Amino acid sequence: MTHKITLIPGDGIGPEVASAARRAVDATGVRIDWEQVELNASVIQKTGQSLPEHVVESLQRTRVGLKGPVTTPIGEGYTSVNVALRKRLELFANVRPVRSLAGVATRFGDAKIDMVIFRENTEDLYSGLENEVVPGVVTGIKVITRAASSRIAEYTFAFAESAGRKKVTAIHKANIMKLADGLFLRCCRETAARHPAIEYQEVIVDNAAMQLVIRPETFDILLMPNLYGDIISDLAAGLVGGLGIVPGANMGEHHAVFEAVHGSAPDIAGKGLANPTAMMMSAVLMLIHLQEHDAARRLQSAIEHTYAAHRHLTHDVGGTATTAEFTDAVIEAIARVG
Ligand code: NAI
Repeated sequence: MTHKITLIPGDGIGPEVASAARRAVDATGVRIDWEQVELNASVIQKTGQSLPEHVVESLQRTRVGLKGPVTTPIGEGYTSVNVALRKRLELFANVRPVRSLAGVATRFGDAKIDMVIFRENTEDLYSGLENEVVPGVVTGIKVITRAASSRIAEYTFAFAESAGRKKVTAIHKANIMKLADGLFLRCCRETAARHPAIEYQEVIVDNAAMQLVIRPETFDILLMPNLYGDIISDLAAGLVGGLGIVPGANMGEHHAVFEAVHGSAPDIAGKGLANPTAMMMSAVLMLIHLQEHDAARRLQSAIEHTYAAHRHLTHDVGGTATTAEFTDAVIEAIARVG
């Protein structure tokens, strides 16, 4: 079967890592008809739309996307196209597996880190509701609803059960935001009660940040609202070797868009320094979603072999290879892993 997939290279290092991931996926032999659509600052400015319609139309048609990062101007300019896309397609669950990768040195020696972050993806302080009340005073509205909180909680516990995981930790700040985070937590507790086989635990976000750094191996599944999920994801990436190696998936009822945790990395864009592993592993998650389990297994195992051999690694994980050299090594390994 041929799958039609929307490929969004994005900007910054996006086109480099997207093309690497596409080459690696194609090398598995899986049949994909890529529909490439452009989404970057110049397209956004040219169309005058913060989320250009051609991108939405393509994803509505194909229902599955592989997406590179898109830059968002800081403190000014247009609103985040990434947030807009997640809301428009109701990609309510942001799923980010964070795993130690043999061959990547971390600060934790041999401790095996294997956690999955579930981040609510459509509300919270990402509502985009900001106001200048008077000059010098602004408000930003944090939106937490029962519907969205229960939906992400149910999705998380259902995953935990089907994947044979043991424990879900809800992360919150309900000691301060008693109403907003309080509601999120109530929804988590109600959902936990319906899944008694899964151990349930709650940790305040500041304590969670510390516990993650000193005892990362004790975490299993993490469940949290949007903003904490954004921050904790980067922290967790740092535990296993950095943003270059952590993939992600934005899941909805009808659509799925796979993208790495990292952004457009303007500091290294266009230099051949980007690590495409996170994007390739996002493609592995996509292949699993497409039920292409053999191709997914071969690509994942080719990446792992390349790291274990400790040759052709990119700069961020201690090597000297370029994006293209690492990609070539993975493609060679795909042929070998059979
Ligand atoms: P970033 O993730 O782009 O970069 C943070 C640091 O990690 C940089 O030093 C960068 O060089 C390094 N890094 C990131 N990915 C890497 C890779 N694959 N290989 C090697 N090194 C890598 O975060 P930053 O600088 O905060 O954001 C830059 C832009 O990206 C912003 O405009 C932000 O809004 C956007 N962004 C977009 C996302 C998306 O499209 N989903 C997600 C996160 C940020």
